[in-house]
Amino acid sequence: MKILIVYHSESGHTKAFAEGILGKLTALGHIVNSIRLETAAPVKMKSVRESQTIDIVNLPDPQDYDALLFGGPVWAWGPSPVIIKAMHKMGKLTGKTCLPFATMGFTGGKAALRYMSRELGTKGAKVLPGASCRHMLCNFAEEIEKNAAKIAAAISL
Ligand SMILES: Cc1cc2nc3c(=O)[nH]c(=O)nc-3n(C[C@H](O)[C@H](O)[C@H](O)COP(=O)(O)O)c2cc1C
Repeated sequence: MKILIVYHSESGHTKAFAEGILGKLTALGHIVNSIRLETAAPVKMKSVRESQTIDIVNLPDPQDYDALLFGGPVWAWGPSPVIIKAMHKMGKLTGKTCLPFATMGFTGGKAALRYMSRELGTKGAKVLPGASCRHMLCNFAEEIEKNAAKIAAAISL
C-alpha cells in the first residue's frame, strides 16, 4: 500500500512518533512517505484559542496515496491548529483510508483523536481508530513502540 504520514511537530515528539510508525509500516512492506508540515510564519503557541493565520507551505496531494495518517501534538485538549488546518485544506478524501495520531504531555489525546477522526470522516475517508502517546511520567520510547505497532497493524488489515 502507498501510505503518507503527514504531521505537525514543534518540539519533535510527534516527529519521533511519526518515525516510529514509518519504521513499522516499512517493515511490513508498505511504501511510505512522511511530510512534516511547515508554515510560512511561526505558529503562535501562547494562546491557542486566539485566531491566527496559518499558511502551510508544503501540503501534499492526497490523491497519490491509498492511506493517509494525520498526526500532531495535543494543544489545549485538542489537535494543534496546524494539523486541523492541514485536514481542512486537504480536500476530499473519498475512498482513502485515514488514521489520526497524536502526542501529548499527559492528557487530551483521546479528545484530539476524536476531533481528527470526525474531521476526516466529513471528507469521506474510511477512518480507522488512531493512537496517542504521552511523554510525561512514562517511557516515551515504549509508548511509541507499542502505539506505532498498533497503527501499523490496523493499516495492514
Ligand atoms: C500551546 C500548547 C498546548 C498544549 N496543551 C496540552 C494539553 O492540553 N495536554 C497535554 O497533555 N499536553 C499539552 N501540550 C504539550 C504537547 O502536547 C506535547 O509536548 C507534545 O508532545 C508536543 O509535540 P511536538 O513535540 O511534536 O510539538 C501543549 C503544548 C503546547 C505548546
